Amino acid sequence: MPSTSTAGSVSVGGKRVECDEDQSILEAFLRAGVWMPNSCNQGTCGTCKLAVLSGEVDHRDSPLETLSEDERAAGLALACQARPCGDAEVALRGDKANRATHPLKDLSATVVGIEDIARDTRRILLGLDEPLAFSAGQYVELVVPGSGERRQYSMANTASEDKVLELHVRRVPDGVASDKWLFGSVAVGDRVEAVGPLGDFHVVDESDDGGEPMALIGGGTGLAPLLAIVRTALARHPDRQILLYHGVRGQADLYDVDQLDALAAKHPGFTFVPVLSDEPDPERRSGFPTDAFVEDVSAAKGWSGWLCGPPAMVEAGVKAFKRRRMAPRLIHREKFTPADALTPAPPTNEEA
Ligand code: FES
Repeated sequence: MPSTSTAGSVSVGGKRVECDEDQSILEAFLRAGVWMPNSCNQGTCGTCKLAVLSGEVDHRDSPLETLSEDERAAGLALACQARPCGDAEVALRGDKANRATHPLKDLSATVVGIEDIARDTRRILLGLDEPLAFSAGQYVELVVPGSGERRQYSMANTASEDKVLELHVRRVPDGVASDKWLFGSVAVGDRVEAVGPLGDFHVVDESDDGGEPMALIGGGTGLAPLLAIVRTALARHPDRQILLYHGVRGQADLYDVDQLDALAAKHPGFTFVPVLSDEPDPERRSGFPTDAFVEDVSAAKGWSGWLCGPPAMVEAGVKAFKRRRMAPRLIHREKFTPADALTPAPPTNEEA
């Protein structure tokens, strides 16, 4: 949470924002409702890399793997890690400065629902004290009680469902957040602290959405943000073509199948395809969801693509989409990694 003493101010594209002590440049801008590219908020993805044009920044915990010594010497910094030392001016990559965004906020909520929905997978519902403005597909960071650590979970609810957050949590053995808390001590009625919304993996603005076809591939609890995106996309264009692939190991890992089948019955352009990788079932597709997409779609020019899951699945998905002629700029991706990975990438959904 932010402190109150100011460490300096940072300007980008002529917009200047005060930065509290111990507040990253990214946090200061997002809290002011000014967009900066961001994804992991942990210094591991490099999405928030920017150029320091004047002044000094403290790189804090920026990993060398993400920001090399040469890049630091060249004046680059990670906005999610760096703090200004006095006043500074920075520039984003590309011509994207000053786009408005939903402001990052401290959130207080009460646990209003806990449901086991699949093998080692839970749906957690958090009733917010105040409604949250966000875009479908974004995530929140929960503060793990007693540890001060934070864990990231994508929201499966749409932006119009702004009072109750729906999170899908995968249990990780001995995980501080999933095993010990969200599969352990948590109870309905508990109070929860969080911050959000975060992340650039979200639906395009409605004014930019022409109802083009979409392909979405999720692995495990990577389904969560895709549910929000699909339901938002269908609400805007009920007849649009959408293919949603959910890749899991076995039948016991599938969830929300009835809900998605009902959605497909209501929207003839929407197709839901569960794909089982390790435990074949005669009723289901088997293999990898990225291969299933290649088998099903001969050309995806003009489509947008959405990938959320383990890094290997996301990389395979990018290749599959490009193979079918999807434009790289229309491919959106969100990676997550297992608990305690040395180089985690967000949002975890199944982080420890
Ligand atoms: S490295 Fe800053 S958002 Fe990922």
